[in-house]
Amino acid sequence: SVELSLRPTTLNQYIGQQKVKENLRIFIQAAKMRNEPLDHVLLYGPPGLGKTTLATIIANEMGVEFRSTSGPAIERAGDLAAILSSLEPGDVLFIDEIHRLPRSVEEILYPAMEDFFLDIVIGTGPSARSVRIDLPPFTLVGATTRAGLLSAPLRDRFGILSRLEFYDKQALCAIVERTAEIFDMLIQENAALEVAKRSRGTPRIANRLLKRIRDISQVRGEREISLEVTNLALQMLQVDQEGLDHIDHKLLKGIMEDFQGGPVGLDTIAATIGEEPETIEEVYEPYLLQMGFIQRTPRGRVITKKTYRHFGIKMDEEK
Ligand code: ADE
Repeated sequence: SVELSLRPTTLNQYIGQQKVKENLRIFIQAAKMRNEPLDHVLLYGPPGLGKTTLATIIANEMGVEFRSTSGPAIERAGDLAAILSSLEPGDVLFIDEIHRLPRSVEEILYPAMEDFFLDIVIGTGPSARSVRIDLPPFTLVGATTRAGLLSAPLRDRFGILSRLEFYDKQALCAIVERTAEIFDMLIQENAALEVAKRSRGTPRIANRLLKRIRDISQVRGEREISLEVTNLALQMLQVDQEGLDHIDHKLLKGIMEDFQGGPVGLDTIAATIGEEPETIEEVYEPYLLQMGFIQRTPRGRVITKKTYRHFGIKMDEEK
């Protein structure tokens, strides 16, 4: 499908994240030279930056199968044992949201990662016994929004830790142009740049916006995406000049209007705007922090001058 072909399949096709790519390229080459599986890799960073894509690329570059699951999907030790014991030597097992693995499952993962065996308890009560299952050597690729969400023992068992960063405008622009080409559309350079500027540093958002912009272009019978259509679509989608969306606005305005700009605690602001604290912390805040729209202080979140200026509100000292 087109959806699938949006994902690059090699490190060379993957745009941005230069440092991460540079490191992985060497570690993959060295593992292949030694005929060993790649060391376990932890990919962390905000959603939509390409962690799953990188995991598929790692498998592809290593020339092994890619198997995929997620922390919440593995409820018992047996679920994990079934997956691990069906791997071929060297395969990549991708566990998304690895911080949400149940603790009981996490514990059987330690010897699996370190020495490629499982210690499974079968049965209960007096007839319970422990069996050892040898595993093929494999590469675990874990993904999480923040490395700090993992327990220290799990984090310590990854040999390669890669932090994905928000993309700069140039990288996002290149991604938008690549996606437009896959969609068999043309896009004006200033239109691609506009999408890039308003995508919160996030390829997933850029590609999602581009799909809606393409819809409007197609309905208008235009094969080339113009800046005009791009601006129209972004307005329809309630994405502002800085790329902030409806929920960013709710969050920032909530702090400004209900808490005089803060400081306000995460749980308090979450309850006020009706979002989960985890969603705010892992999905919305990282970009707002990086761009300087909010700051974290020991007493909670505070709104910055930049935000007041963004919303055209005069601050006290300027009144
Ligand atoms: N599509 C989404 N993210 C991408 C990336 N980092 N490189 C190339 N294409 C992409």
